[in-house]
Amino acid sequence: MIERARALVQQSRAIVAITGAGISAESGVPTFRGEGGLFRGRDGRELATPEAFAEDPGLVWSFYRWRRRVVARCEPNAAHLALAEAEDAGRCEVTVITQNVDGLHHRAGSRWIVALHGDLFVIRCSGCGRERHDPDPDWPPLEGRASADPDDPEGSVILPRCERCDALERPGVVWFGESLGNRVLEDAWAATKRANVVLVVGTSAVVQPAASIYRVARARGTTVIEVNPESTPISEDVDISLRGTAGAILPDLLGARRSEGG
Ligand code: OAD
Repeated sequence: MIERARALVQQSRAIVAITGAGISAESGVPTFRGEGGLFRGRDGRELATPEAFAEDPGLVWSFYRWRRRVVARCEPNAAHLALAEAEDAGRCEVTVITQNVDGLHHRAGSRWIVALHGDLFVIRCSGCGRERHDPDPDWPPLEGRASADPDDPEGSVILPRCERCDALERPGVVWFGESLGNRVLEDAWAATKRANVVLVVGTSAVVQPAASIYRVARARGTTVIEVNPESTPISEDVDISLRGTAGAILPDLLGARRSEGG
């Protein structure tokens, strides 16, 4: 199957890669539904909600500060790099539609990225909606001294406020229960309609609407190839489902040079 998948990818003029937390697993970023998704004993998915932010913005900001610090120490792996190199080689159009907010596709060098769920390093005002990019993982600043645990300093964060309207700033990510921006969805569907091959990489394919984007391709007869060590609810519905890690399979499929540390 890998030979067939490789041939289809190599012949393609336009590739779309729909990626989830699994593509960053080999970079050390915890996936959502694997172990390690807890923060101060709370399920991260419970903290990534508007309700949690309304109830305790300080705890939610501590969670996101922790995630920014964890991610800032991670490096793009061979899978991220293979996609960026394929795009850079210019042999075909490569668009990444990612559910991840870790910024690793960007850091790997991909330029055509649709960030469905936003980005950990984007800050948005909860009042006027103004957005800015802040790469500093040690932000928001802490009040009081940091504790022994460098990853989760117990000192509470100083709540950030918008310079323009003074409302609370929040992480520029999509929370559970929030809808995705129309613009990103339109970009995702447009890229998927142009693709000859769609790769679905490292996602449990249970969160909508991301999990259904591949259906746009299926409906047009576009080849859909899944890459995941485990089967998922869409494994039976795609053309080829490759069992393996993104770091091993994507460089093979995309014909990239193997990179050290990937
Ligand atoms: P999940 O944690 O739900 O799924 C990760 C998938 O990656 C699983 O299917 C794993 O089998 C697979 N996987 C693990 N290691 C892998 C590897 N080395 N190579 C390839 N695949 C691997 O993460 P997502 O599907 O991304 O939403 O979760 C989707 C959304 O659920 C997230 O974007 C987030 C979460 O709620 C929001 O934040 C709105």
